[in-house]
Amino acid sequence: MRFPLLPRALLLPALLSLALLGVRVQQRFAGEPFTDGPDGPGVPDGPAVPGGPGVLGGPGVSGGPRGPGGPDVPGAIRAAAFQWQASSSSSSVNGTAKPPPTRHPLQPPYPYPYRFLLNEPHKCRERAPFLVLLVATEPADTAGRSAIRQTWGNESSVPGVSVLRLFLTGVHPVFGGPLRRVLEEESALHCDILQQDFLDTYHNLTLKTLMGMEWVSRHCPDAAYVVKADRDVFLNLPYLVRRLLQPQLPPKRDFMTGYIYRDTGPLRSKAYKWYVPRQVYPNDTYPPYCGGPAYVLSGDLAVKVYAVAQTLPLLNMEDSFVGVCLHALGLSVTSSPWGAFNMHRLPYDKCRFSKLVMVHHYQPEEVLTLWPHFQGANVTCPR
Ligand SMILES: *[C@@H]1O[C@H](CO)[C@@H](O)[C@H](O)[C@H]1NC(C)=O
Ligand SMILES: *[C@@H]1O[C@H](CO)[C@@H](O)[C@H](O)[C@H]1NC(C)=O
Ligand SMILES: *[C@@H]1O[C@H](CO)[C@@H](O)[C@H](O)[C@H]1NC(C)=O
Ligand SMILES: *[C@@H]1O[C@H](CO)[C@@H](O)[C@H](O)[C@H]1NC(C)=O
Ligand SMILES: *[C@@H]1O[C@H](CO)[C@@H](O)[C@H](O)[C@H]1NC(C)=O
Repeated sequence: MRFPLLPRALLLPALLSLALLGVRVQQRFAGEPFTDGPDGPGVPDGPAVPGGPGVLGGPGVSGGPRGPGGPDVPGAIRAAAFQWQASSSSSSVNGTAKPPPTRHPLQPPYPYPYRFLLNEPHKCRERAPFLVLLVATEPADTAGRSAIRQTWGNESSVPGVSVLRLFLTGVHPVFGGPLRRVLEEESALHCDILQQDFLDTYHNLTLKTLMGMEWVSRHCPDAAYVVKADRDVFLNLPYLVRRLLQPQLPPKRDFMTGYIYRDTGPLRSKAYKWYVPRQVYPNDTYPPYCGGPAYVLSGDLAVKVYAVAQTLPLLNMEDSFVGVCLHALGLSVTSSPWGAFNMHRLPYDKCRFSKLVMVHHYQPEEVLTLWPHFQGANVTCPR
């Protein structure tokens, strides 16, 4: 056996307790930039921020924290907040200095040459898959990935259609070091993990999505479709493929669909998990976009989104940001059939679930218990 059982057996229980602790530590650190960062003295708010998104920092102004302290140092987050404050106050002390490239702590540093720590560069060498399924997970979520592989993430779930599944992860903000060994082992076993060296935090989810788009652009640009999904969904790939994407037809181009949000705007109160400060996104409305739990893009559009993202200031809401990318490309989203993508949880019902694409708020562990019934022949549904 290539993968010795002993170290794994010892590592996993230890890591589980570490990871639980880590969640709490991570939340504490992540809270800091909001409490004393954004609205500190000398920070322009509201009308003081001129113009559209373009002024927030063009391609060259990525001004992220560049200090020492690798991605797995928890202090990196505090350092980022400190550097940001330090640079904004120094500009007011000394009025003649040119404004420093300020970056709000909620704005993911970009463009930035994030490196792949785990990669699968050769997966599309032999074949261009019909669908690349990118699933955002946290590094410590071994159990979630395992459940997803056995259920909706199964690459063989649509007979005759080539599906390629990859999990997207960053670096755990506290336990990046110890988790590396576990992830490497999981990656060697399943060959389905991508990891880049950014901190895996809620406000960095945009970096995770862009990592997936970067992988498609570099290593699989001929894929017909790309799906980005979160871990907490019930996803029905056969229905998506057969009913929406229809492999017998030529692949659509410049195509994106999902649950579409129109005429929504950023939440400006810090009390919200989805808080977006004006410095990060000045406009009051978002272009139409597809909700993050699961959306589909044509492969060509995934490549274009990655390219245009290199020229835009990032937003901490990954789904709205993809909408901003489409807007910058002069494109928009396509409506999906009514009820196909469900942002609210629906009670499980085999016949109903077999005629929709996605239901949000299903944890992988729960899907694992439902799956035999969903796949089974016990219930016959009216056609
Ligand atoms: C700004 O202040 C710093 C520190 O006091 C000083 O070294 C620097 O020369 C000043 N820059 C300008 C442009 O006055
Ligand atoms: C994926 O589905 C195929 C076909 O139904 C099945 O044979 C296989 O065991 C499944 N794989 C996993 C990891 O569950
Ligand atoms: C996002 O990741 C970058 C790169 O690792 C890091 O410097 C930054 O602090 C992270 N931002 C948040 C809000 O966690
Ligand atoms: C933001 O608003 C400006 C001014 O109305 C507009 O030109 C620009 O297209 C908007 N950007 C987005 C992403 O909606
Ligand atoms: C199918 O039905 C039989 C008989 O009611 C039951 O024993 C079995 O557990 C069911 N299988 C599934 C997958 O629900």
